[in-house]
Amino acid sequence: MDGLGDGVFSKVYVSICNFLRKLLWAILAVGPIPNHVAVIMDGNRRFARTRKLEKEYGHRFGFLSLISTLRNCYELGIKYVTVYAFSIDNFKRKPDEVGGLMELLQEKLEDALKEESFIKTCGIKVLFVGNLSLLPEQVQDSAKKLMEETAHNTRAILSVCVCYTSTDEIAHAVQEACDENRLICTMRCNSSGTNKGNSDEFLVTLADLEKHMYMAHCPDPDILIRTSGETRLSNFLLWQSCFCYLHITKALWPEFSLRHLVWAILEYQRVQPYLEKMKKKL
Ligand code: FPP
Ligand code: MG
Repeated sequence: MDGLGDGVFSKVYVSICNFLRKLLWAILAVGPIPNHVAVIMDGNRRFARTRKLEKEYGHRFGFLSLISTLRNCYELGIKYVTVYAFSIDNFKRKPDEVGGLMELLQEKLEDALKEESFIKTCGIKVLFVGNLSLLPEQVQDSAKKLMEETAHNTRAILSVCVCYTSTDEIAHAVQEACDENRLICTMRCNSSGTNKGNSDEFLVTLADLEKHMYMAHCPDPDILIRTSGETRLSNFLLWQSCFCYLHITKALWPEFSLRHLVWAILEYQRVQPYLEKMKKKL
């Protein structure tokens, strides 16, 4: 085929693909669409190992998978996507792998900060969730900048859990709630001129804790997807996942594609009425 023929062919091909994607979203929208999808992106190194690639390429392919999944969720109208990008426990990995992941994160943050980036053109708000002080300073600065520059976006919210574990999130929330209560009690004692507070006022309630969770900006996830066939939660969203549908797929994260996401959503649609009933039973 000549150059002109190639161009026409690729335009027709892209139009057909776009039409089919829209058709797929319309079919899925007949059932309930999850509001919040959370993902444990696992299996990057196994992907690299089985293809005789360096570990770094496993993570790089993993990043591509993240962008395509984000695009699919966005087109399907899923408002919240949360991904587990780096656990506090991942710091125990070899320094070269940790350093490589931080460099990759910095590189992708710089790309995302560009005006023509996928994040900015789609109007996605990005939040980094976790103990960000554990990140290298340069990464912290770029992450803060991206959060500031996308803070006004409302179409979709991407929470990237870095230096995160659920147990750290809970410990942090308890600490913050206690500090807040102590401050309130001190102020009340000072204004009433007594040095004794009502002991009930020191009690930390469930609502206090939830207010101080790193994930307080999001409703609880409806689906938690874990790739690579592992059946563990690995200290991810333990507090928030009581009633969500847990979907395990054998696909390694860089292999995770549209068909895997569609399957996860169909399975969610199958169990969603039951999950709703369980929530109401509480
Ligand atoms: C788990 O696979 C993956 C990670 C620890 C890192 C996740 C990172 C990405 C998907 C790409 C980069 C993301 C950002 C935000 C820049 P694994 O390393 O545990 O692989 P294995 O289970 O095969 O050992
Ligand atoms: Mg793993």
